[in-house]
Amino acid sequence: MPAPLPDARDPARLSRELLAWYDATRRDLPWRRTRDPYAIWVSEVMAQQTTVQAVIPYWERFLASFPDVGALAAAPLEEVLRHWAGLGYYRRARFLHAAARELAARGGELPRTAAEWLALPGVGPYTAAAIASIAYGEAAPVVDGNVARVLTRFDRVPDPPDRAAVRRRLEARAGELLDAARPGDGNQALMELGARICAPRAPRCPACPWSAGCLARAAGDPERFPAAVARPGSVPVLRGAVLVRDRRGRVLLRRIPEGEVNAGLLELPSATIREWRGGEAVPPPERTSDLEALARRGLGRALARETGLAVTLRDALGRERHAITHRRITVVLFAATLRGAAPRGGAWSWHDAAALAGAGLTSASRKLSRFAGGAGPGLAPQGSPVSSPPPRRS
Ligand code: ADE
Repeated sequence: MPAPLPDARDPARLSRELLAWYDATRRDLPWRRTRDPYAIWVSEVMAQQTTVQAVIPYWERFLASFPDVGALAAAPLEEVLRHWAGLGYYRRARFLHAAARELAARGGELPRTAAEWLALPGVGPYTAAAIASIAYGEAAPVVDGNVARVLTRFDRVPDPPDRAAVRRRLEARAGELLDAARPGDGNQALMELGARICAPRAPRCPACPWSAGCLARAAGDPERFPAAVARPGSVPVLRGAVLVRDRRGRVLLRRIPEGEVNAGLLELPSATIREWRGGEAVPPPERTSDLEALARRGLGRALARETGLAVTLRDALGRERHAITHRRITVVLFAATLRGAAPRGGAWSWHDAAALAGAGLTSASRKLSRFAGGAGPGLAPQGSPVSSPPPRRS
């Protein structure tokens, strides 16, 4: 296949050709006959983990029972879940119901912009952009899995689309290819192109309106894209740990009880804040500052629940990542002070910071202990060594 002519990659021409293809071949979906943002919202949430075709009967029953946001908010959760039965990923239904109640409490008016939608429970960037563009004509590009596949093939993007930089690049590209006069149709056209033509396996290139400009088609390797995501574990997990010192600068450790992973080892007190097991509308944050903020919001309660320790969090000190079987774990470490008396019982002990390396820590805590620096109360002094200090026997 010869290299594509530059003309065939001109964005204005591409968005024109895409819309012409869509107008001629688009599927007749019931939510495409309405501009009601509520109805569109429900359709997009249902379509997140399900094929569009399979969603239709569920959407029709749902809208018949809960025709507007007020009706949904007034319904008991059990009733909503009953309508969801068969679609799976029930978190989506819970979020939808919670968001409806939030909106009803505010007077029942629905958001208009993608940014406002994004603030609702369970609404991620893809859903927010889809609703705002389809219901209100906002030029917000959607990058779902189908769109990412089309664009990584069209440009032969070598890196996996779960990387933040790649995602930004795809969003910018989708924005450039979006027809400003018909952004809702443009987004739906691109999603549909991915679902119907640019399939994961055996894409139907001869039927594609973009085939003349597609770099992967020219190279003969569309199925190589998107690049496989290299991941040792597939469930992202966010944990938090605390560095608590006493007046002498010693560090509080907890012995992990029987029945838990790493039983018998010592750890910086830590707890799981969130797991993303799939099906969540809101993916784990990509920016360090967002991850830290999420950890800060959830760690106090998680620690109290898992270990009984009550602390006040101070500065974030650092981060550590590791993978255990199918879990990709990020631990954020905070300096913290005790609320109330020191914890009692055999699980708790105080250790010189300089002796942590030899204390029998879990490997995550051992890595985090580098942020403990040397001895001394308060935070690690500036310029303290980052590698673990040598063990010191006392
Ligand atoms: N996938 C999810 N929502 C869609 C829509 N509105 N059109 C086409 N494909 C979709």
